[in-house]
Amino acid sequence: MTTHIDVTTDRRQRSADTELRRRAKAVVPNGMYGHQNMNALPAIPQYIARSRGARLWDVDGNEYVDLMCSWGPVILGHGDPVVEEAAERQRGRGDCLNGPAPVMVELAEAMVATVADADWAMFAKNGTDATTMCCTIARAATGRTKILVAEGAYHGAAPWCTPFPAGVTAADRANLLQFQFNDIASIRAAVGEHTDDVAAIIVSPFRHDAGFDQELVDPTFARDVRAYCDEIGAALILDDVRAGFRIHHGGSWEPLGVQVDLTPWSKSIANGYTLAAVTGTDRYRDAAGGIFVTGSFWMGAVDMAAGLATITELASRDAVSRMRDLGQQLRTGIVESASRWGFDVHYTGPAQMPNLLFANDSDYDLSVAFSAEAQARGVYVHPKHNWFVSAAMTDADLDMALTGLDGAFGALRARYPQP
Ligand SMILES: Cc1ncc(COP(=O)(O)O)c(C=O)c1O
Repeated sequence: MTTHIDVTTDRRQRSADTELRRRAKAVVPNGMYGHQNMNALPAIPQYIARSRGARLWDVDGNEYVDLMCSWGPVILGHGDPVVEEAAERQRGRGDCLNGPAPVMVELAEAMVATVADADWAMFAKNGTDATTMCCTIARAATGRTKILVAEGAYHGAAPWCTPFPAGVTAADRANLLQFQFNDIASIRAAVGEHTDDVAAIIVSPFRHDAGFDQELVDPTFARDVRAYCDEIGAALILDDVRAGFRIHHGGSWEPLGVQVDLTPWSKSIANGYTLAAVTGTDRYRDAAGGIFVTGSFWMGAVDMAAGLATITELASRDAVSRMRDLGQQLRTGIVESASRWGFDVHYTGPAQMPNLLFANDSDYDLSVAFSAEAQARGVYVHPKHNWFVSAAMTDADLDMALTGLDGAFGALRARYPQP
């Protein structure tokens, strides 16, 4: 269906946001870069003034219940008091120091105690740091070059993995081989005669490519990938940057009983503070210790203190169950609303990381219009990217989300009456 809905008819005040976008155009290339360009739609506010719990306010003072959670990092809620207090306590002692603060060791101990396949941990800043480190460790350990990646999967913004070709050379991608998620035969086919040169297979816990229906992992596929890595002597890297600590506290494939060798983490591990981690098994410990990776701010102690508090609080609040439960209520309400208003929607992914697309909407016209209508009713969702539930959502937040989204379906139906 090609409807080309006019999404500029936003009923909310947007003048401060519009002005900031105008000023940015003069001093920031294109006015914005990276994934925030996906917010370039006029109906989605680009600039956010403040946030608390599961709510945020844009620069024009409009309030939203937040179903994007800063694209994942905010897991316990914006400004969680326990995390903030831990960060503040560490800030009083020092943050950017000549060496790591003791909290680094405590954090590594917490990761090792929490994550099923972690015998050790290292820390960085961004998910891309962590995915790239995993590839480097796998290459150092095996002395091999090739990395298998699923077609369309996002593993970060470095030249080896960015989805956009500008500035990327063929050499940057020369050692990648592509397979299809959930298809072990495609892995075997991609490897072909390179069995002796595959350093690692990197895979996300489920298929969460932006703009597509999400696909849960087939447990048989997960077991087969593990067995195949063992067969050819390659490392299995589970990219838990996006899903980590939302699906399961001990790693997203722990419930499957499938052991992975290396795991990159970031996003939610410090409730919005700037932290990434790599965990791994003993087999990869020496290689991990032998590579040279660092960054000026990687030892930031405040972020690590926030990470330690987040990991502790996630467990003590049983946050994964809470997010799953909230996500299931969200799913039930949204699917019911869609059907009542006569929309054929694809509501896919784990309950706590849902993805809403419309059937026969390959140009995303309906999803863009729907999310514009949702924003206009105080629900912050994205038209092409999966959403994130946080453990901070209250029943009132859930009500506000379901009422706003029901209103968004209604508004869409008013514009497009059923034949
Ligand atoms: C699965 C996955 N891997 C890696 C990354 C890269 O993380 P970052 O943006 O922190 O570099 C992302 C970011 O969205 C991601 O979703």
